[in-house]
Amino acid sequence: MADKITKDQLIALLNEDLAREYQAVITYRTYASAVPGRFRQELREFFTAEITDELGHAQILADKIVHMGGRPETVPAKVKYTEDPKEMLQNALADETETVERYVQRREQAEACGEYGLAVDFDDLIADETRHRDELRMMLKRWD
Ligand SMILES: [Fe+2]
Ligand SMILES: [Fe+2]
Repeated sequence: MADKITKDQLIALLNEDLAREYQAVITYRTYASAVPGRFRQELREFFTAEITDELGHAQILADKIVHMGGRPETVPAKVKYTEDPKEMLQNALADETETVERYVQRREQAEACGEYGLAVDFDDLIADETRHRDELRMMLKRWD
């Protein structure tokens, strides 16, 4: 069980999550546009499809931050730029893996704060990010 945190601490953590969702949106948009090479078409489609999910996550977080009386973050976390397709997938995999871990923890914290609806929202987010992570893992398998 997560240590009890205050409502303000939860809002601050949700704002970090929001900044990372915006980062994911920009990363996938940038990678979809910039990806070169013989798998461009396929990777472009994959990265583009992620954008909708990440924007949906940003919406859930921004709405909740406002509902809790906070001010939603407007600055995205730093985007890692690269023009190497494998590095794009590796960067995305590292981010998605970390996001799953963050959201499992956040789900517990939300519940500990009595935010049961938010805890349930995190079930959907965890399911989405886990699928992203697993697909990226499969794409990187036997890449070379
Ligand atoms: Fe996301
Ligand atoms: Fe994701």
